[in-house]
Amino acid sequence: MTSMTENSTSLQPEIKDPALAPQGKKQIEWADRDMPVLSLIRQRFEKEQPFKGVRIVACAHVTKETANLARTLKAGGANALLIASNPLSTQDDVAASLVHDYGIPVCAIKGESIETYLKHVKQALDFEPHIILDDGSDVVASLVKDRPELISNMMGSTEETTTGIVRLEAMEKDGKLPWPAMAVNNAQTKHFFDNRYGTGQSTIDGILRATNILLSGRTLVVVGYGWCGKGVAMRAKGLGANVIVTEVNPVRALEATMDGFRVMPMLEAAVVGDVFVTVTGNRHVIDKHHFEKMKDGAIVCNSGHFDLELNLDSLAAMAKERDVLRPFMEQFTMKDGRRILVLGEGRLVNLAAAEGHPASVMDMSFANQALAVEHLVTNKGQLENKVYEIPEDVDQEIAALKLKAAGVAIDVLTPEMTEYMNSWEVGT
Ligand code: ADE
Repeated sequence: MTSMTENSTSLQPEIKDPALAPQGKKQIEWADRDMPVLSLIRQRFEKEQPFKGVRIVACAHVTKETANLARTLKAGGANALLIASNPLSTQDDVAASLVHDYGIPVCAIKGESIETYLKHVKQALDFEPHIILDDGSDVVASLVKDRPELISNMMGSTEETTTGIVRLEAMEKDGKLPWPAMAVNNAQTKHFFDNRYGTGQSTIDGILRATNILLSGRTLVVVGYGWCGKGVAMRAKGLGANVIVTEVNPVRALEATMDGFRVMPMLEAAVVGDVFVTVTGNRHVIDKHHFEKMKDGAIVCNSGHFDLELNLDSLAAMAKERDVLRPFMEQFTMKDGRRILVLGEGRLVNLAAAEGHPASVMDMSFANQALAVEHLVTNKGQLENKVYEIPEDVDQEIAALKLKAAGVAIDVLTPEMTEYMNSWEVGT
């Protein structure tokens, strides 16, 4: 491991406005009240100091919930730097408070340009991390491509999203993954709750804050029926929308039909949908030929990690006029007069137009992150360069703590039950 250079020590935080810090601190403390599992981990880290001398770059949505994760890493002795994983998701008051109240450097400004975003990724690499906590794998990919001399410093990385894990697995397959990576998203206490209930609620929240439309009676098309799609469809149905699902995976499509949703190809859904939400992790799932079929007034948004799910270049080329009608809502007027409304510039609508997932689910996601980082540090030098699942006992422990905090007691197996579960002789 090399020692830190001048560059990494001279890092200057970049935030919108330090005067926002008092408001940000209130938000961070408010979120913390709903993050009991992370809070317990933070208390343990304070005593045990597992990250003493460890430099951690966290590339995440800079929200009040992430602030509590950053506090937890710092409490464990880490030298942590936080940068935004998306140009539109930063909560500027939170970023200010992290810098001024908690002494954690942050480079993130809501609405930052792609150039600034990439500059922050570069600054993160100049920090010469030992651990990267990533959301989308941009920092990991940049370090491997642009700063390979830093690889020897690295203990490993953790990844928050499905999209990022797909990238890591592709790197592993190509023999290009140079360290152990923990697939946080794959923990049950992450994707069952964050992806489903978190994305479900926060996506609807983003759509409503951006538009204030009534969903009841409208046709809402959910593009992709993974965990996020399931959550969005479930919550939209609960608000009275007529939900249509589009899918490419036959098993998921079948699941959607049995969950009571209409399933059809995107080209057919394009004609009847009032609101479209993409949650596939794939590129151009709503494309030119779909926009051509949409009704006047159709609302289109994305809640997948990257902003490439909607082909907005083709929409822009089709438009004769563009107008921002409200914050996070832009109207594209087609040459034939139809108007299509795009929310949050096609970026994650739940974080661009709302506040992301509530603290209560991020509690479990970030408990997994904190314990995954600890796992990498504790097992330094003993892990292979591959994508690892979160250990089963960690998942169980997080769920047990979450239940305890909610005051929910559950049964335990009796010795008789345990014996039965472990035997093959006893049958009918
Ligand atoms: N991803 C979705 N919601 C989030 C939140 N509130 N904080 C950080 N990352 C998120």
